[in-house]
Amino acid sequence: MKKKLFVDLKENSYNILIEKGLLNKLGEELKNIYFGEKIFIITDENVDKYYGSKVKDELDKIGYKTRKMVLAPGEKTKSFSTLPSIYNELLDFKLTRKELIITLGGGVIGDLGGFAASTFLRGVSFIQIPTSLLAQVDSSVGGKVAVDLEKGKNLVGSFYQPKAVFIDPDVLNTLPEKFYKDGMAEVIKYGCIKDRDFFYMLKSLKSREEVMNNIEDILYKCCYIKKSVVERDEKDLGERMLLNFGHTLGHAIEKYYNFTGYSHGEAVAIGMYNISLKSEDEGITEKGVAEEIKEILINYDLPYKVDIKDNNKIIDTISLDKKNIGNVLKVILLKSIGESIIYDTTSDFFKVVR
Ligand code: GLY
Repeated sequence: MKKKLFVDLKENSYNILIEKGLLNKLGEELKNIYFGEKIFIITDENVDKYYGSKVKDELDKIGYKTRKMVLAPGEKTKSFSTLPSIYNELLDFKLTRKELIITLGGGVIGDLGGFAASTFLRGVSFIQIPTSLLAQVDSSVGGKVAVDLEKGKNLVGSFYQPKAVFIDPDVLNTLPEKFYKDGMAEVIKYGCIKDRDFFYMLKSLKSREEVMNNIEDILYKCCYIKKSVVERDEKDLGERMLLNFGHTLGHAIEKYYNFTGYSHGEAVAIGMYNISLKSEDEGITEKGVAEEIKEILINYDLPYKVDIKDNNKIIDTISLDKKNIGNVLKVILLKSIGESIIYDTTSDFFKVVR
């Protein structure tokens, strides 16, 4: 059944639509909100294989003039140096400021295409069609768009809200298992930070099949939590930081292994468990929370511990984290499952990683 969420950001407001089979009627949905002539579709080779022609044909059928740009998959594509090739294609296509870009893909395509949209001709509208679980529950919602520099990820970007987010859960049927798990870590995160019942509902599901039987509700719940937080703190100055639960340590672990050891979700999973262990020791988190997190991570075949030989490297990375303001590091901790807080500490908080 079709589900709709309104993201209330004044003049930058938009709808998130969640519906199985949405891609089959994309043109019908789009013609209610977009009255221009041209649409530029940005996607990657993996997604193009399954959904590129489907999306293009649906839009051509309605009478839009479309052009599709297919990029190599993977984080390397999200580089600042990819941008000129996108701008050139947009210029060749003669896309004007009144027209539209669609990003069809996971977080890389959404972030890169969204950043291109935010800068081309000082900003053209864009619509996100996220195709990975991670992008459907996180990166496509809330308007963070960015590219990577050689010195680090997401170092150039902006807050630029899409005109709509179209989520078709059916596309997850072709999502490889490792990307499914990657996304499930973020899904679990939402239960941890904001919704105890949701956490235990997720904990009760036994397989990917059971998750897929409930997927519209799961996506709705995650997008509802995310959009509510973003509405209260669009520019990430306060409450939005709660979405980073598990991420400070997670990012440091990703970096420790040169972004080749653990996926983002796996690293966040390890981060959520370890920070909760530590904050239980500190008496901030209710006893037993870390164990609950460990159990749910095991259910979803996600890791919860790492064997870090050089913990100083982790501490060094954390001290450079952009959440480190002055000497104060803001970390996200749980008081209990479903209740999170922003806690001021220093990178020494991470001295014990088990
Ligand atoms: N992914 C965290 C945020 O959008 O703020």
